[in-house]
Amino acid sequence: MPQKLTVFGFTDVHSQQAMLDYPTQVRRSAYLAVEDALAAFGPADLSICGGDNLSDYPYWERSCGLPKRNFLDIKEKYIRCFAPSAKGERVLYVAGNNDMYLGDAPVGEEPYSSTEFYLTGPMNKTLGILPEGEAYFVRCDKKPAELPYLDAFHYVVDGVDFIGINIDPNTAFNSHEGYYTNETVDWVARKLDEVDPDGYKPVFLVGHLSALFYYGGTELKETMINGNASRFYRALEGHHNLFYLYGHMHGEDCMYRDSSSAVLHIVKQKDGSFLPYDNNQGQTDSSRLPEYAFSLVHMGGLRPFSLENFEEDAVWGFGGGEEYKLFPKTATPKFAQYLAMEIEQDKVTFYIRNVGSLEGFALGKDVPLPYTVYFQKKPQ
Ligand SMILES: [Fe+2]
Repeated sequence: MPQKLTVFGFTDVHSQQAMLDYPTQVRRSAYLAVEDALAAFGPADLSICGGDNLSDYPYWERSCGLPKRNFLDIKEKYIRCFAPSAKGERVLYVAGNNDMYLGDAPVGEEPYSSTEFYLTGPMNKTLGILPEGEAYFVRCDKKPAELPYLDAFHYVVDGVDFIGINIDPNTAFNSHEGYYTNETVDWVARKLDEVDPDGYKPVFLVGHLSALFYYGGTELKETMINGNASRFYRALEGHHNLFYLYGHMHGEDCMYRDSSSAVLHIVKQKDGSFLPYDNNQGQTDSSRLPEYAFSLVHMGGLRPFSLENFEEDAVWGFGGGEEYKLFPKTATPKFAQYLAMEIEQDKVTFYIRNVGSLEGFALGKDVPLPYTVYFQKKPQ
């Protein structure tokens, strides 16, 4: 690997409702994040888009009705938004549950897959076509056989391993937020053992679904609620320098004032369960920690929930409904965060960055302290 690999993580933009009317629009916080990232770090070696690009058309879940024409239009706009953030336009996309609510059911006569960011590009061009053995495809039961769904994959980017994991397309509509199937988790487990047989190589696993999480920094919850969280954690166990980069949670429940709060170091308990060492708040590096099993890293999020945390530039439209109206939550967020990281030989440094105007979380003014994790070393 080069001396330093820079990676950006953008997630949960949630272009929604009238923004998904044709012609579509990407929420402004995504452009602001790219602009800030380029100004602060220069172009990354890789950018990550953590999913939930789309939502609420016309309902917040299970509407499954975004026409293909609209999807292709906003897909193109997301590509153009994120491409300049990384050298060679290398952007790794995973799908969020809301992307699937809107597109992964039979949509009219033209079904499509939210993993088209690989299937029809740009990932297949910028990061390369995945050889057999590096990709795990599944079928969506309700869609034509010729429309595969990329459920897990592995890329090596400048010598660093990145594994992607996607939500099951067949059950996304029947559950609140979908889950990773046993088969997909097992594929990831085998891939991890293959790329990191000794358990100490830095590996980055990227998926949309959140995991163990401290609401507001204090209340610990398991947020991988539908699925097999324990199977997932067992797959990561034994890979000490594995970082699971995820989104899904966003907004007021996770307003990070320092970058360390977005990182949790998971310790296996005597009863076999997995829990964070603590909430990791206010730390600048990992040197106080005992050995731990793996780490969870939240990439922030580019959309809040509360109406007061949006600017006044909301969009009018139909948003898939009957009525022409204003959709206040299409506005630019006053609170929005993304993640940057710098991977070096012996460590990785995480930077949570603000791109809103909210006091305490303002772009260019409130810069959370970075957090450095020194890679764990194999005992001699
Ligand atoms: Fe989500």
